[in-house]
Amino acid sequence: MSDTFLMHRALALAGRGRGAVEPNPMVGAVVTDATGTVVGEGWHERFGGPHAEVHAFAAAGDRARGGTLYLTLEPCCHQGKTPPCTDAVLRSGVRRVVAAMADPFPKVAGGGIGLLRAGGVTVDVGLCEAEARTLNAPYLKLLATGMPWVIAKWAMSLDGKIATRTGDSKWISNETSRRRVHDLRGRVDAIVVGRVTVFADDPLLTARPPGPRVAARVVMSASGDLPAKCKLLDTIDEAPVIVYTTPENEGKLRAWSKCGAEVIALSRETTPSVRDVLHDLGRRRFTNILIEGGAGVLGSFLDADAIDEVQAYVAPVLIGGVVARSPVGGEGVEWVQNAKRFGDVTTEVIDGDVWVRAKRNEPGPSVNG
Ligand SMILES: NC(=O)c1ccc[n+]([C@@H]2O[C@H](COP(=O)([O-])OP(=O)(O)OC[C@H]3O[C@@H](n4cnc5c(N)ncnc54)[C@H](OP(=O)(O)O)[C@@H]3O)[C@@H](O)[C@H]2O)c1
Repeated sequence: MSDTFLMHRALALAGRGRGAVEPNPMVGAVVTDATGTVVGEGWHERFGGPHAEVHAFAAAGDRARGGTLYLTLEPCCHQGKTPPCTDAVLRSGVRRVVAAMADPFPKVAGGGIGLLRAGGVTVDVGLCEAEARTLNAPYLKLLATGMPWVIAKWAMSLDGKIATRTGDSKWISNETSRRRVHDLRGRVDAIVVGRVTVFADDPLLTARPPGPRVAARVVMSASGDLPAKCKLLDTIDEAPVIVYTTPENEGKLRAWSKCGAEVIALSRETTPSVRDVLHDLGRRRFTNILIEGGAGVLGSFLDADAIDEVQAYVAPVLIGGVVARSPVGGEGVEWVQNAKRFGDVTTEVIDGDVWVRAKRNEPGPSVNG
C-alpha cells in the first residue's frame, strides 16, 4: 500500500471526529509494521479524549516497532488535556512518521516534528497537505483569525425562492434533505437566524435527533423587536440562546434575559457588525457556525465577505412572485465580475432535491464588515 493510500485512510478516519472534537482538530492515524502491513488505526474521537495516535498504538502494540505512523497532523509535544503524543510515538518504536501537515497551534508549531527527529525518527511532512487543510479548515481559521468557520445554508425552489410572497417556507426541501440539515446542526457550535425568521417560522433550531454537540441558537436583531413568547425561549433548557443587538435597544430584551437568553449589545452603530459577532463567537472557541437565514442575515454575512461555505438544497418546485425572498439579501455586488466565486464544489441528488456544497476559494479567510 502506498503512502498516499494510507494517508487517505488516515484522513477518512479523522473525519469521523467531526462535531465531537472541536475546538480541537480532527486527526486520524494509521500504523504499519516494518513490512508495511496495517497494524493499528485510530482517530481523535472526542474533545479531551485520547489523541488519534494513542488509539492506533494501543491497537498495534509491539507490532509498531520498526514501522511507520501516518498522521493527518503533526503530533502534539505539550501537556494538554492528555500527555504529549510525541512521547507515545517515541515509545512505540516506529522508525518513520509521515505527517500531512505541521500543526500551527502555538504550543506545537513544528515542535512535535523537531522532537521526533531529535529522537531518531524520520519525519516526512506535507503528504496530502491540501486535503488535510480542507478537512481542518475551520480549526485553522479559528487559530489564524479568532473567528469561526461560517456555513451558509438554505433551502430554495428551482426559481431561487426561500419563501413564498407571504413568508411561508415550510417545507421547500424534502424530508431526507431536512434530516441532513439536522445532522449538520448537531455538529456545529451555533445556529444563526435573523429577527424576521423568528417571527415567520418560530423555529426551534435544535438537532433532532441530537448530534455530538449542542449548538447555541443565535438571533440577530438590531431593533430588539422580538416576540415575548416563542419556541426558542420555551426550550431554553435544551440549548442556549444568544441575541446580538445594539446598546440602544438592549432594554427591549429584558424579558429574553429573564428567560435565560444571553443578550449582547455589541456596538454603538445601528447594526452590530458581522466581524464583532464572529469575534464574540470565536472568543467562546466556537469553530463552526451555521447561518440558517433568512435573506437579511445571509446578506449581511455576504456583504462582510464572511461566508466560508455554502450548503444549498434546491427543490424541484416553482414558487414565483416578485416579492418572494431569494436566499441572500443585503447590498450585493454591482457587477458579476465582482461576485463572490466559490470552489471545491460537491453536488448530490437527495430524493429529488439537489444538494450543492461550495467553499471559499482563497486560502486566507477575511471579514470586512
Ligand atoms: N428556505 C429557507 O432555507 C429559509 C431559512 C430561513 C428563513 N426563511 C424565510 O426567510 C424569511 C425571513 O427572511 P428575511 O430576509 O425577511 O429576514 P431575516 O434575515 O430572518 O431577518 C432580518 C433581520 O435580521 C436582523 N439582522 C440582519 N443582519 C443583522 C446584523 N448584521 N446585525 C443585527 N441584526 C441583523 C435585522 O433585524 P432588526 O430589524 O431587528 O434589526 C433584520 O431586519 C422568512 O419568510 C423565513 O420563513 C427561509
